[in-house]
Amino acid sequence: MDLSPGALILCSLLCTVAGQAPVVTVEPRVATIRQGESVSFRCQVGSGAQPVQLEWRRLNNQALPDNAKVGPDSSVLTVANSRAANQGQYRCVAANSAGRGVATAVLNIKHAPKVQLTPTGPLHVRIGDPVSIGCRATGRPCPKLKWIRQGSTLQLVTAEANNVNTIQWAAVRPEDSGVYICQAENNEGVTEIKVEVIVQGGPGAPVATVSTTEMTVVEGHTVTMECQASGSPPPVITWSKLRAPLPWKHTVAGGVLTLTSVGRQDSGQYICNATNIHGYSQAYTQMEVDTPPYATSLPDQVRLQPGDPLRLQCLAHGSHPMQFVWSREGRASLPPGAVATKDGNLLLAHVKLSDGGTYKCEATNHIGSSEALAKVIIKA
Ligand SMILES: *[C@@H]1O[C@H](CO)[C@@H](O)[C@H](O)[C@H]1NC(C)=O
Repeated sequence: MDLSPGALILCSLLCTVAGQAPVVTVEPRVATIRQGESVSFRCQVGSGAQPVQLEWRRLNNQALPDNAKVGPDSSVLTVANSRAANQGQYRCVAANSAGRGVATAVLNIKHAPKVQLTPTGPLHVRIGDPVSIGCRATGRPCPKLKWIRQGSTLQLVTAEANNVNTIQWAAVRPEDSGVYICQAENNEGVTEIKVEVIVQGGPGAPVATVSTTEMTVVEGHTVTMECQASGSPPPVITWSKLRAPLPWKHTVAGGVLTLTSVGRQDSGQYICNATNIHGYSQAYTQMEVDTPPYATSLPDQVRLQPGDPLRLQCLAHGSHPMQFVWSREGRASLPPGAVATKDGNLLLAHVKLSDGGTYKCEATNHIGSSEALAKVIIKA
């Protein structure tokens, strides 16, 4: 496009004005209101080339909260019915063809303290345990924190760091049981939160004892386990089995657990639990059920030709350790060259006609023994 000299002069004039980015201010620059109150900020353009576009944003370009409204010409920002989360900075951004100008307003919301405990109660602790409970409060102005015991006005000695006020005991005593209150106070109000501390194991707490901590019984027998408990009031005694329900055939009476006709699967740890208002106490009985062997031979009959290898395996159920002895019926000894292994195998590399007959395996553990027979038939 060709420009006349007149047009060039006009342009240089316009371009000087257009070269000015907006200069903006906000009124008020800082506002402090109570939660629930409303406030308006006005953004004013001091100088700069028109047209100027105004926009309100939160710090870091976050969206405005839903209770913040911007007026029709965008110059007034109103925060209505304020909440604690409205606290912070608001920026008025003015833009024209030459650039941007920014002014920042600060909104402070005064609110009564909010308090939070870690951990929350009620706290069941054992006598002598270390205990600490932290109380954290938010509020504006920044609240002052204190701990008191319910029924007393005496402020307790606590540790404060990073807005968390912590009440702690190196080792709790029974008399530390009670309700503790964390109080947070600022000009806007007082907020308190309670926590109950229950120290278990003081005088009167149950102590459970079992008559036997370990027992080994034989399958099919009837077993009784006794549990006694001291404590005041007298504790209630219950029996359970670790990681399993109690055997089906059981009865509990006066702290005595009776199991009739026990099987191998009833082996395990039995727990006596004595409970009263001061706490509970557990005692354990470990029970193993021993079973006699039950032997079988694999195979129990075999047909071979002279020169074939022989392999018989003796299998036995029952408690370990288990010993195996192979013999031959009607003969004083096994054929020469026969090998009987520890785990119950009988091996013969090449059978002869004379090796036929009945072989016997006897499996023995500390409860008893069991026999299994294998018939070996050899035909040319
Ligand atoms: C023993 O009783 C206490 C209190 O009733 C309970 O918390 C605990 O889990 C019980 N223990 C067992 C093994 O049942």
